[in-house]
Amino acid sequence: MAATEREQQAMRRALTLARNGPRGVNPQVGAVILSPAGDTLAEGWHRGAGTPHAEVDALSQMSPDAVRGATAVVTLEPCNHTGRTGPCAQALLEAGIARVVYAVDDPGAASGGGGAHLRAAGVDVESGLLADEGAALLESWLTVQRLGRPHVTVKWAQSLDGRAAASDGTSQWITGPDARADVHRRRSEADAIVAGIGTVLADDPALTARRADGTLFEHQPMPVVLGDRIVPEQAAVRRHPRALLQRSGANLFAEHEGDALADSLLVELRDAGVQRVFVEGGPTIASAFLRAGLADEVLVYLAPTLIGYGPDGTDHPAVRMLGVETIAQQRRLDIAAIERLGDDLLIIATPERTA
Ligand SMILES: NC(=O)c1ccc[n+]([C@@H]2O[C@H](COP(=O)([O-])OP(=O)(O)OC[C@H]3O[C@@H](n4cnc5c(N)ncnc54)[C@H](OP(=O)(O)O)[C@@H]3O)[C@@H](O)[C@H]2O)c1
Repeated sequence: MAATEREQQAMRRALTLARNGPRGVNPQVGAVILSPAGDTLAEGWHRGAGTPHAEVDALSQMSPDAVRGATAVVTLEPCNHTGRTGPCAQALLEAGIARVVYAVDDPGAASGGGGAHLRAAGVDVESGLLADEGAALLESWLTVQRLGRPHVTVKWAQSLDGRAAASDGTSQWITGPDARADVHRRRSEADAIVAGIGTVLADDPALTARRADGTLFEHQPMPVVLGDRIVPEQAAVRRHPRALLQRSGANLFAEHEGDALADSLLVELRDAGVQRVFVEGGPTIASAFLRAGLADEVLVYLAPTLIGYGPDGTDHPAVRMLGVETIAQQRRLDIAAIERLGDDLLIIATPERTA
């Protein structure tokens, strides 16, 4: 049976509840239990690793009699495996839930399949309700499940003629305050922020996420600097509230494939609980991620300014070698959104899907 209007409302509520949970290695999930008449009987959400999952959190607030014949509306397919907590599909079954409506399929090899398990046991299961909203909430968690690495955003600011810096290497600032505020807000949503040693030496960035008044956002991404050259003792990033992670470039260089970068840095970050990586450049590092096919999202802050190259021919293009030798190899992207930020434009693009 297709989802009802009331189940849609409950799913919206479950998505809101999910956001109460912490962003971490476990997904943010919300659940609402509805009576056959459509009344809300209980609400739940997942409070992080080792704590009850959203459905079980909601069930725990109900008397066994009230659950029988009820509908569970959940933002993620009920899990089917025993981790630190038992399988939710089985818990729903044992509680006597008659119908389950969920938004997003769980792609995990071990945890997925809860929907099929419930169906096989005679429960009425409807999947895909508000799936896009559910997937957007779980974007980075889903990337980790599907690809085994964190979600990667590569960001740069460029002039209208495609330069990331002037010929002397100065790049502060190409964009205006609104664009920079947007970058800081997005940094605050990331778990790690990656910069090359070239940028650290040229610009001395703090790699913190700050409000317009200079105060720090509560959540700070872990700073990661790539390259062999040492981060100077007096560098601003050494005063970052999170411990600095520096990784040598030698074993990270990936000329045409993603394996080296993915295996070493991204898997190390994933194992440290990082789900969202924000790559801030410079052009050499941004290009390494793009070349390796490791950018899930590209943010280009486009300023209405022209820089060109210097009198001696020194040039700082926003992107360097991508391994494109002929136009058939160009890296096409889909435009997901274009935003106006003061005088600048933000173009949000994703690698074109090859269906
Ligand atoms: N417009 C913007 O958005 C923006 C943003 C940031 C920076 N910038 C500008 O860009 C310039 C700096 O950029 P850049 O391209 O010269 O330097 P960069 O990308 O910041 O750092 C390059 C360095 O990273 C290391 N490295 C390179 N590939 C690596 C890999 N695959 N794995 C690990 N480490 C790797 C190497 O250091 P080692 O040789 O030490 O190993 C390399 O020299 C400055 O002028 C800065 O102002 C502009």
